[in-house]
Amino acid sequence: MLSGKRIILGVTGGIAAYKAAFLLRAYQKAGAEVRVTMTPAATRFVGVETFSSLSKHEVAVEVFPENHAATESWTQHISWGEWSDLFVVAPCTANTLAKIAHGISDNMLTATVLAARCPLLICPTMDGEMYEAPAVQTNLETIHDLGYYLLEPDEGYLASGLEGKGRLPDVFKILDKSNQVIQKEKSDGPLSGKKVLVTAGPTREHIDPVRFISNPSSGKMGFAMAEAARNLGGEVTLIHGHVTIPKPYGISTVEIESAADLFEEVKKESDADVVIMAAAVSDFTPQEKKQQKIKKEGANTDLHLIRTQDILAWLGEHKKKGQQLIGFAMETEDLLKNARSKLEKKKADWIVANSISDPDAGFQSDTNRVHLINNRTNKEYKGSKKEVANRVLQKILG
Ligand code: CTP
Repeated sequence: MLSGKRIILGVTGGIAAYKAAFLLRAYQKAGAEVRVTMTPAATRFVGVETFSSLSKHEVAVEVFPENHAATESWTQHISWGEWSDLFVVAPCTANTLAKIAHGISDNMLTATVLAARCPLLICPTMDGEMYEAPAVQTNLETIHDLGYYLLEPDEGYLASGLEGKGRLPDVFKILDKSNQVIQKEKSDGPLSGKKVLVTAGPTREHIDPVRFISNPSSGKMGFAMAEAARNLGGEVTLIHGHVTIPKPYGISTVEIESAADLFEEVKKESDADVVIMAAAVSDFTPQEKKQQKIKKEGANTDLHLIRTQDILAWLGEHKKKGQQLIGFAMETEDLLKNARSKLEKKKADWIVANSISDPDAGFQSDTNRVHLINNRTNKEYKGSKKEVANRVLQKILG
């Protein structure tokens, strides 16, 4: 379950902070990628370098950029919050527990807790008397009511020399609980048990072995849709053209070249419960593809094109009962008019329309601004492509 997962490990200022280094290694051995955020107090117990060497990533401690490496920004807590699949605070002191329970965000760890979209697992670790204190017990209840996950501390010998409940549980218990949390989130998702097909990226229509007709689609929006569907519990197949972005984990991917290849692969998966056609499919292909490179001397400069299959329209014609069919529309003018006409002509349930003329939207951008439309709805969403993908999918799923 943890293989390929992205985990933020939050370390707070208690003596058990040293055990977080072993926890980090155990997550890595299970195949997870880990980034660490520490409270300033935690750095008094274990050096930042320990965690940055083990995680091979800068450790987030400071909120203010003058204290950061040049590459870091003011919004690091937001990007980490978006990046992660699970946020584990281990050990979590009574102080950080209280801050989380009350939404206080006065350091990088607590700010990232508020920004995170992933489940949060808290491992309260403190002296037994502190753990039993009414204020701590009330905060634990609040944490539970807020929907965060808790792993109770173990009983035994404590750093104070006393016996009691407050020890950080064994690494394998934390790993086990992390697995359970991820499993539970997946089976609770609205797409749990559902098949989702997503297409993304450009197609290439070859003229000869070294030349082709294509478009600048980066695949980012389609990949973001696939990841959003996976995060909501869907069993996702992503069919994509040539892209340079990394393949998302936990998603089965198929790479295609041309519109015809895409059509063949889409047909195989067309029984999916949700189909998202985010691919930028070429509408035309050369009538003839030359097997050898066309030499310029004496070449015929006319290029004869024929129409490709409109895959979304084919899906609209062959829709299975209850299937949600979502198309995209890329427009340079008359955005809503053209998108509505595509909705109707292609028999889609929804169209995600974006104007490639917008400076913060379109092919290569990391951000997007879209209108999600159907016969009754027209909602605008803007933000990072991941954010937009999440919100669009959640609206579609009601
Ligand atoms: N699409 C498709 N097959 C094609 C062309 C487009 O399935 N041969 C899908 C796209 O994946 C997208 C939707 O149709 O979901 C709209 O694509 P877009 O390029 O905006 O519009 P076109 O249908 O190509 O129409 P036009 O070029 O006239 O805008």
